Amino acid sequence: FSLKNYNTFGIEAKAKLFVAVHSVAELKSILEQNENEKKFILGGGSNMLLTQNVDALVIHIDLKGKKIIKEDEDFVWIESQAGENWHELVLWTIDQNFGGLENMSLIPGNVGTTPVQNIGAYGTEIKDTFVSCEAMNIATQEMKTFNNAECKFGYRESIFKNEVKGEYIITSVIFKLTKRNHKINTSYGDILGELAKNNISTPGLKDVSNAVIAIRQSKLPDPKELGNSGSFFKNPIISKTEFEKINAKFPEMKFFEVSDTEVKVPAGWLIEQAGLKGKRFGDAGIHKNQALVLVNYGQATGQEILDVAKKVQQTVLETFGIKIEAEVNII
Ligand code: EPU
Repeated sequence: FSLKNYNTFGIEAKAKLFVAVHSVAELKSILEQNENEKKFILGGGSNMLLTQNVDALVIHIDLKGKKIIKEDEDFVWIESQAGENWHELVLWTIDQNFGGLENMSLIPGNVGTTPVQNIGAYGTEIKDTFVSCEAMNIATQEMKTFNNAECKFGYRESIFKNEVKGEYIITSVIFKLTKRNHKINTSYGDILGELAKNNISTPGLKDVSNAVIAIRQSKLPDPKELGNSGSFFKNPIISKTEFEKINAKFPEMKFFEVSDTEVKVPAGWLIEQAGLKGKRFGDAGIHKNQALVLVNYGQATGQEILDVAKKVQQTVLETFGIKIEAEVNII
C-alpha cells in the first residue's frame, strides 16, 4: 500500500498493511485483532519524514465530527474528533466568532496530532486553549483523559513525545474558546504589518486569520504543490552566555528571550546566514522563502531529504557552534 498521498512530504514509501478507522469502536477492534502485529499510527502525515517502507500495520485515524459541548456567557467548549482537518476546524470556530485558534490558521495536519507537538504559530500555541484530550492506550485499549497540565506542554513538546511516546492514540480534543472579549494577539510583528497593508486598525478574529493566511502563503510552500513538513527544525534554545559569545561575532543575529538565562534563536536565520537558503540537491532542497522548511521537488526519497537535513545541521554547527534539532519525526 503506497503512503505517498498520506504524507505531506509526498515521499513514496510502502506500508505492509493499511487500515483507516472511522470510530473509536472500530479502532478498539482493530487493535484487539492485531495484538501481535507491529503498528504505526498515522494522522494527517504532516509532521513526519518516511525514510523507508513501513513494515507494520498502518492505522490511519479518520475519526470525524466537531461540536459544541458546553457554553456560558463568555466561553464555549468545543470537541473535535482526531481526524478532522485542523485548518477546517479553525475556520469553523472563526465563522461562529469563537476566539483562540485564529493565529494558528492554515497549519497543515489533523486535530489529533496537534497536542503531540503543541503546535503553534504567530504568538499562540495549542496549550493556550487546550482543555483535554481523550486517548486510547494501544496495549490495553482503555481510554484515558489527559488534561492540560498532564500533557506537560512545552515548545513543540508534550508527554506524547516523551514519557508515553508510542503508547496512546489521541481520539478527540476539547478546546475552550472565547465568545466575547477576544484576546486578539498581534504581538507577532508580521501580523501588524499585514493588517496595516489592509488599513485594519482594530482587527477581529477573521482579520487576524486572514493576515496569518497571507503571511504563511507568502513564505511557506503549499504541501499540495511542493512536498514539505513545515518547519523541519526547532528553533534552538541556548544559554545567554553562549548567545553572547556567538553574538559578539555575529552582531546582527536575531533572538527572542525565553527566560532570564536562555534565548531562542531562529534556525531559519542561522540556515540562511550559513548560505543554504534555496539550495537544491537533486529533488531535495531548502525552501527559497523560508530556510527552516525542507522541500521535495518531486521524486526525492526520504533518505535524500534526511541527507540534506544532516548537511544543514552540520553547516550550522560549523558556522555558529549551534546544534539544531529536527522537529519532524524521522521514521
Ligand atoms: N528568518 C530568516 N531567514 C529565513 C527564515 C526566517 O532570516 O529563511 C528569520 C526571520 O526574518 C525572522 C525569524 O527568522 O526574524 C523568525 O522567522 P519566522 O517568523 O518565519 O518564524 P520561524 O521561527 O522561522 C516559527 C515556527 C513556525 C511558525 C512561525 C510563526 C518553529 C520551529 N517554527 O518559525 O511553525 O509558523 O514561527 O510563528 O517554531 C512549524 O512548526 O511547522 C511552523 C511552520
